[in-house]
Amino acid sequence: MAEMTVYEAVGGDPFFAELAAEFYRRVRTDEILAPMYGSDDLAGAERRLFLFLRQYWGGPTDYIQERGAPRLRMRHIAYHIDRAAQKHWLACMRFALDAQRLPEVLDGILWNYFTQAADGMRNAADPNPADDPEQEASTPHDR
Ligand code: HEM
Repeated sequence: MAEMTVYEAVGGDPFFAELAAEFYRRVRTDEILAPMYGSDDLAGAERRLFLFLRQYWGGPTDYIQERGAPRLRMRHIAYHIDRAAQKHWLACMRFALDAQRLPEVLDGILWNYFTQAADGMRNAADPNPADDPEQEASTPHDR
């Protein structure tokens, strides 16, 4: 049997479209995430997430044609992403994934990726060092 991409296994475009839509439905009412998005351009952001994810998992490559190389960490530098923001982003994504009811193995593959990717997107320390174990561990002695 020919190998299937994750893109095909989860159901292709309809899956990623629904995932991105559900995710942004949550973002819209999130007190940390919503203010990061200028005015109401969530439709544009939703489309970019859809294009990126389907390409990442082996689907059509329109993202790179429209946006160029993903370089996601660089694209997120403009936003203040501390642990609290990361946690809220992941909570929205968890909700969106739950709504898709994927088989456990596929859900695990996507969730594992999202948690790692979100970890790599952090670019700011939390205001309260007690919320941030790494920051707390490195400050007192390094000064
Ligand atoms: C960790 C917390 C994160 C926060 C707070 C965050 C926030 C944002 C914001 C405010 C934007 C700008 C919206 C726009 O496109 O107009 C954005 C763009 C984007 N984010 Fe995130 N993001 C996070 C993590 C992630 C992760 C883990 C991924 C991928 C798995 C991701 C994928 C994207 C993509 C594909 C774009 C559009 C990039 C482009 O083409 O310009 N983000 N994000």
